[in-house]
Amino acid sequence: MALFGKDEAKKELGLLTPEDIRRLPRHVGIIMDGNGRWAVRRGMPRSFGHKAGVEALRAIIRRSSDLGIEALTIYAFSTENWSRSVEEVSALMGLLLEYFTKELDELHREHVCIRIIGDISGMPKGLERQQAALYAAMDRTRENTGLKLNIALNYGSQQEIVRAAQNLARRAAAGELAPEQITREMFAGELYTAGLPDVDFLIRTSGELRLSNFLLYQCAYAEFYKTDILWPDFDRNAYDEALLTYTKRERRFGGVK
Ligand code: IPE
Ligand code: IPE
Ligand code: MG
Repeated sequence: MALFGKDEAKKELGLLTPEDIRRLPRHVGIIMDGNGRWAVRRGMPRSFGHKAGVEALRAIIRRSSDLGIEALTIYAFSTENWSRSVEEVSALMGLLLEYFTKELDELHREHVCIRIIGDISGMPKGLERQQAALYAAMDRTRENTGLKLNIALNYGSQQEIVRAAQNLARRAAAGELAPEQITREMFAGELYTAGLPDVDFLIRTSGELRLSNFLLYQCAYAEFYKTDILWPDFDRNAYDEALLTYTKRERRFGGVK
């Protein structure tokens, strides 16, 4: 089946009214957590959960694109996830490669613009093929004007912030910039998410209540949403429910109502 439906399917409202759709977040962040527990509960290896997790991701990308959400940033692999077993890491990376090679045409057709955020140059040897596939995906979809899909891979927010500081410090040391000229906008422009609005809505599945080094700077005023659903079970309906919650939130940004 094609990844994206026909135009009629796109108009499907699901749990949302047209008014809700007007109030959707511009930028959604998702910490896709719980693949391992999902598999273990079924007496299966953790990699089985990652496989199911990729399937869940496919549906959420499609829904985001159909709803006209501007940007979706998903946490696929953290800088800390290298501490897992070699088997689990290679299963996960393999699944990502498979996903990109299989879905790229379809994503491209839907005008999805793919950006990998994180240090993909810092991947260990043996993953060159995966790396090349990721670069190719980015290059091919760079000019697309649909959903901006950011895949956080080998991503750590603290590392991202330090890297931004280093870039600006380098320019200051070269005499291009005085430290007091550095603005928040300039700083944001050095992050992997340069050019994107801050995260409006952050979803974490599997019941955990932590950021785990994800988009610390960009989530300054994000609305949080946690669900006990494990990521492989997070379907379109669960996503709609989450989005519906967002439309009812009152955002204040430090002001008063
Ligand atoms: C999230 O699921 C996927 C990644 C971290 C890559 P986990 O693998 O963390 O699953 P749990 O949290 O152990 O259940
Ligand atoms: C966060 O999940 C990373 C991803 C979803 C890729 P983890 O499962 O790695 O986070 P912790 O270890 O529970 O904080
Ligand atoms: Mg986890």
